[in-house]
Amino acid sequence: MAVNKLEDLRKRRQKIEEGGGAKRIEKQHAKGKLTARERINLLFDEGTFVELDAFVKHRCTNFGMEKLEAPGEGVVTGYGMVDGRLVYAFAQDFTVVGGSLGEMHAAKICKVLDNALKVGVPVVGLNDSGGARIQEAVDALSGYGKIFYRNTIASGVIPQISAIMGPCAGGAVYSPALTDFIYMVDQTSQMFITGPQVIKTVTGEEVSAEALGGAMTHNSRSGVAHFVSANDEACIADIRRLLSFLPSNNMETAPVFETSDDINKIIPELDTIIPDNPNKPYDVKDVIALIVDDGDFYEYQQHFAQNIITCFARINGSTVGIIANQPKVLAGCLDINASDKASKFIRTCDAFNIPLLNIIDVPGFLPGTNQEYGGIIRHGAKMLYAYSEATVPKVSLIVRKAYGGSYLAMCSKDLGADIVLAWPSAEIAVMGPKGAANIIFRKDIKDSENPAEMRQKKIDEYTAEFATPYKAAERGFVDDVIEPNATRPRLVDAFNMLQSKRETRPAKKHGNIPL
Ligand code: HXC
Repeated sequence: MAVNKLEDLRKRRQKIEEGGGAKRIEKQHAKGKLTARERINLLFDEGTFVELDAFVKHRCTNFGMEKLEAPGEGVVTGYGMVDGRLVYAFAQDFTVVGGSLGEMHAAKICKVLDNALKVGVPVVGLNDSGGARIQEAVDALSGYGKIFYRNTIASGVIPQISAIMGPCAGGAVYSPALTDFIYMVDQTSQMFITGPQVIKTVTGEEVSAEALGGAMTHNSRSGVAHFVSANDEACIADIRRLLSFLPSNNMETAPVFETSDDINKIIPELDTIIPDNPNKPYDVKDVIALIVDDGDFYEYQQHFAQNIITCFARINGSTVGIIANQPKVLAGCLDINASDKASKFIRTCDAFNIPLLNIIDVPGFLPGTNQEYGGIIRHGAKMLYAYSEATVPKVSLIVRKAYGGSYLAMCSKDLGADIVLAWPSAEIAVMGPKGAANIIFRKDIKDSENPAEMRQKKIDEYTAEFATPYKAAERGFVDDVIEPNATRPRLVDAFNMLQSKRETRPAKKHGNIPL
């Protein structure tokens, strides 16, 4: 081949790899952000990234765009290996027309989604964009539409992970919102439908971009994001960690990591971890750390609805999704946000063949007009639906309270728990002893010469008789009452036994989860 053709190719490629040029790259770095290519290089195992569509160009001629060079069309796309497993990715390049999304930029992302779906591997989207490329008008909107459509078709088939690593405005937030996991980088990323200026014009309200749509706003308040990372490097390391817990697609199971943590380990601390006083809180994360491999777990929505903990961990080397009531926050009550958080997590695990472990200490649904007006009925129903719908192995461990509707909502036997284990400290009843005694013994208490004494007597009677795991075990709703110290080997055993579980559901177009 003529040498000049090779040189021409190299020059062209080099120009594309320079993105928006040294000045804009410097600006990007000055903001504490990495460039699209730096992010891609961190995401993939060294030397494994294969770029596609580097030569794609826009074809817009509006507003002088015909003269505008946009190397790589403002997005780097391709595939590579993450810990030796194939993954597709795109990274928007803010140094090129602000990473804005036009027709061809969108086409590159669509190709990534189409290819990833065909070969059954995860997609990681690194978002850093001014949104729809204004000059491209409806072509840009159409580009977003095509991406939303593909995100939806791929949902539940391949894991989709979005990282917000810069601005993400307007409709641009909806592609991440359609994916399974959203990361945000602290201080350098924002998500909003309408920005601070529009809000000021329309409602007169003044709010900073960070307060409106920064990482902590969406991690702790709105629940839109699932993870926050300190900076770009940490975010990409976190995504790699998340991928280690996930299978490549819905036909596979997550990779197994051999553990050196003894699977027969007896853990005496568990015998005393639950306080004698039923109203005294403790940290359920201590329970989780003691029973999973190497005490290692990765929290999902760590900062949102902290009355319920959702996390990935491994037991005997295999991924499990854990849903645990947190008695330290709101006494572990279920509320609207906790229901939404748990339901999405349950469905994510079920879609990707990740068995569920439910650790239960729940006094009930949170009472109050806020909750009722906010629709706790339809939000709480999501949990009932998500657990009932899930066909992965489901193991429930009742460690203390399991009252009323919340006992059911945390995956009781009747919602399809395959194995239900209870500690002797479990209290499985329609409601707590105080409330129950006040209702069913109201007459005895009222007619008594000493109502206070009678109330206490009845509470004690109810506690002894019903606030135990044994009534439920008598009916087979609890498979076994176990010594807490033996929890780890019992869970290892339960998940081993359930490994070959197969459950089918009647054919339907799709269910109608309460929304
Ligand atoms: C075209 C854009 C652009 C856009 C940024 N740029 N956003 N070009 N379309 N949407 C260009 C800028 O003109 C600039 O070009 C370069 O990118 C860098 O932008 P700056 O403004 O200099 O950067 P910064 O100061 O960091 O501000 C970033 C920003 C701001 C906050 C994102 O650029 C901004 O507000 N952009 C518009 C955001 C927006 O309203 N987008 C449309 C959302 S509506 P030069 O050549 O000067 O370097 C939407 C609808 C989708 O997305 C609906 C789908 C259903």
